[in-house]
Amino acid sequence: MKEKVAVLMGGRSLEREVSLRSGRRVSEALAERGYRVVPLDVTPELVPTLRREKPDAVYVALHGKDGEDGAVQGLLEFLGIPYTGPGVAASALAWDKALSKRLFVKAGIPTPPWVAFTAAAFKHMGAATALDLVPDALGGFPLVVKPSGQGSALGLSKVDDADRLPSALLDALPYGETVLVERWIEGTEIAVSVLDGPDGPEVLPPVEMAPKSGVFDFSAMYTPGETDYYVPARLPDDVLRAVQGLARSVHELLGCRHVSRVDMVVDVDGDPYVLECNTSPGMTETSLLPMAAEAVGIGFQDLVERLVRMALDAVE
Ligand SMILES: Nc1ncnc2c1ncn2[C@@H]1O[C@H](COP(=O)(O)OP(=O)(O)O)[C@@H](O)[C@H]1O
Ligand SMILES: [Mg+2]
Repeated sequence: MKEKVAVLMGGRSLEREVSLRSGRRVSEALAERGYRVVPLDVTPELVPTLRREKPDAVYVALHGKDGEDGAVQGLLEFLGIPYTGPGVAASALAWDKALSKRLFVKAGIPTPPWVAFTAAAFKHMGAATALDLVPDALGGFPLVVKPSGQGSALGLSKVDDADRLPSALLDALPYGETVLVERWIEGTEIAVSVLDGPDGPEVLPPVEMAPKSGVFDFSAMYTPGETDYYVPARLPDDVLRAVQGLARSVHELLGCRHVSRVDMVVDVDGDPYVLECNTSPGMTETSLLPMAAEAVGIGFQDLVERLVRMALDAVE
């Protein structure tokens, strides 16, 4: 038998169900590979169970708040258990879209223009009276409103005119303290995954998502058949190379280790824009990282084992 690996999944985030799907698949893959697997839903029993079970490593299959924002990572470091995926600071930075976009701009990484508002700015500072300035500041409609910290397109809406802006903000605010209003980029949606290897980060082929409904929302992300995927994305070679370079830059800029997945849109002129970086990419049947890995001959079990080995063997 190989080492004992605890797979953390579920939890209380809004992406609980997605995480359970990721976690079950990861657990199966590890068991197939001969690891002793301890599947763990995240409950108040988590810490006592980890102390009792003493796993050699944890596979973090959590998505969303607490699992992807550095919280569980910090706890695992305190307990001295190696874990898969980016560390505390990288997770926290990537989770915070408003902050990571600032870093992208500083580093010359293209990202759609945006404004961030906090709930406090609306409640206590009169920010609502300046919403009329937003469209011009961002170059006009359409815009997108989304929570700064959230995933799976939850709380996100496309806004085509000024009348819809306040209600879109109200829809996003329950998801967190900060909301972004961002210019909508019309074009090809892609996800570019980065996997650390012995020779540094390896950038996998970009995956193109073409949702049949036209919108890559929660249902399009997780319902088989609702989205067509193309690997590599149907883009010219020079654009494919450029987006792979950008994904590597984002992975390194945020200080990611092991794995990350960078979501982008390439506009009609072939110019890419980075939307966000995911530090706990989905591992479900319709997820993008496994699809990209498969395209270069890394099967699902290989992918999972490779990530676990990085944690176990402390490959940074
Ligand atoms: N500025 C934008 N332009 C075009 N599409 C966008 C934009 N922002 C978000 N989207 C769409 O919404 C989806 C989710 O947005 P994203 O920023 O990746 O957040 P998350 O995946 O964390 O919910 C994207 O995959 C894309 O389909
Ligand atoms: Mg995304």
